[in-house]
Amino acid sequence: MELDLIRRLYGKGAGIYDAVFGPLLDRGRQAAVEAINASDARSVLEVGVGTGLSLPLYRHDLRVTGIDLSPEMLTKARERARGLEQVDALHEMDAQNLAFADASFDAAVAMYVAAVVPDMGRLFGELRRVCKPGGSILVVNHLAAESGVLGAFDRLMAPASRAMAVRSDLKLKTLAETAGLAVEGVEDAGIGGYIKLVRFRNRPG
Ligand SMILES: C[S@@+](CC[C@H](N)C(=O)[O-])C[C@H]1O[C@@H](n2cnc3c(N)ncnc32)[C@H](O)[C@@H]1O
Repeated sequence: MELDLIRRLYGKGAGIYDAVFGPLLDRGRQAAVEAINASDARSVLEVGVGTGLSLPLYRHDLRVTGIDLSPEMLTKARERARGLEQVDALHEMDAQNLAFADASFDAAVAMYVAAVVPDMGRLFGELRRVCKPGGSILVVNHLAAESGVLGAFDRLMAPASRAMAVRSDLKLKTLAETAGLAVEGVEDAGIGGYIKLVRFRNRPG
């Protein structure tokens, strides 16, 4: 899907996003941020930060930068970030073309965005580039069964997924191959295992 179309979809959906996808997807956000909070990372990049639902969860001494394609989603994120000392900056930016220098961040997080970007290979190329060698790259997403058979919850979620341009057929094997990194761990992160937290370690320099 084209970037303009994705931008338009999230522009339209920004007003209802938190009500529809807030609590439903919270466990995954918590799992990823808990992992970051427990690590020795200080500077964190969150791509596809959306309305900033994860921002209050980060430890207050971290330096968090969020980016998103949608100005409307970012407006909500900026309201939410008011008074949060851990939020360094929120930028309108394409996660496939990041305006940051190499090795700018200790860790990078992508929550519910890997299956939205048009080119996941470019997304991971950028995450590997801006994350320091050896840093954590965390992905939270629904992963489809390897058999390719859609589950009941997939069918239930299909209209909402389509409305938000989310591909529901992303498999762990595809994610790992595209990331070009070894998977360090996979854990259930909500909705009875429908959502997974996948931990990658960036290549050493
Ligand atoms: C399903 S929402 C997830 C938002 C947030 N991470 C959360 O946990 O609720 C996907 C977000 O990714 C953003 N997005 C989609 N494609 C993007 C891209 N190429 N670059 C940056 N953000 C993108 C959308 O605008 C939207 O805010």
